[in-house]
Amino acid sequence: MSSTLDNEPTVSSAVAIPHVSQRSFHNYPGAAYVLPADEQEIERLRQQHNIWKTAFNGKILLPPFKPQSSYFVLDSGSGPAAFLLDLCSQLAQTSVLHGIDIEKRLFPLSHPSNVSFSIASVTSLPDEWTSKFDFVHQRLLFFALKRTEWTLAMDQIHRVLSPGGWVQFGEYGYWHSGPINEKYRQMQNALAESRGFDAKICADLPRLLQKAGFINVTVEKRTVPLGAWAGQVGVDSRNNFISVFAGLKMAVLKAGGLGFVETEEDFDGFTVALQKEWDETEGSEIEFHIVYAQRPN
Ligand SMILES: C[S@@+](CC[C@H](N)C(=O)[O-])C[C@H]1O[C@@H](n2cnc3c(N)ncnc32)[C@H](O)[C@@H]1O
Repeated sequence: MSSTLDNEPTVSSAVAIPHVSQRSFHNYPGAAYVLPADEQEIERLRQQHNIWKTAFNGKILLPPFKPQSSYFVLDSGSGPAAFLLDLCSQLAQTSVLHGIDIEKRLFPLSHPSNVSFSIASVTSLPDEWTSKFDFVHQRLLFFALKRTEWTLAMDQIHRVLSPGGWVQFGEYGYWHSGPINEKYRQMQNALAESRGFDAKICADLPRLLQKAGFINVTVEKRTVPLGAWAGQVGVDSRNNFISVFAGLKMAVLKAGGLGFVETEEDFDGFTVALQKEWDETEGSEIEFHIVYAQRPN
């Protein structure tokens, strides 16, 4: 027989925030990436792919491709490759899909034979890839690339795309709720500033793409609710973003708390308060931006 507790809805149960000592991180020389590279992060990235996919009504590939029998695809900073594996299931088996990342531990252990992976930085792609790919995907490198590295990465993508090929970027835009959210955003911006990341990269992607020589630059935005007020969809996105913030804890503490927190307990308390605010503030939401563009023929 179930108890009353068993029957209580679990939708708003808070996300557990792991201790920093339980997380592991990449050690790729020179890479600025601050989020963890471990099992919990793999699971989070897989769930995050589904949240993005749902927000775009199940569509993961936005550029207006002319139908072709097979495609050469690169996922730049693929992580566990939830996007690439999903795309693979939608393309003919003659397509060739490749993921690169600075962290081998994130790659999936099993995958179809037309999918492969290698270790590389998005800022320095192999010379032999020039004009190779029909499509390049790069999503959520906000906490990875310094301001100047975005230009480098776009130049590399432009080079490895075949003429007429498409690139698709995905990044988070504005997120809003109440005063705790605002303070948290300030902390994230301070972290970005301290590491040389570009806090406004999402809005700047179209301009940078044009500057890199791309044409047909197109932006599509969706908003996703954050918090229990929006039911299960809000809880799922809340859990995912809280896990992103939990992953930033090490970087914030290493930076001395950036004037927002002093101890790990402060950080965890701040994050729990943020969850509560999202749960209780109707209208809390976050924007997803997909920006796609074409290399001229
Ligand atoms: C937030 S995750 C996003 C993963 C994947 N794109 C997705 O949407 O699920 C960022 C990924 O970029 C990788 N990364 C960070 N810096 C990189 C770099 N300089 N070159 C290649 N990959 C990088 C990280 O290891 C991580 O897998």
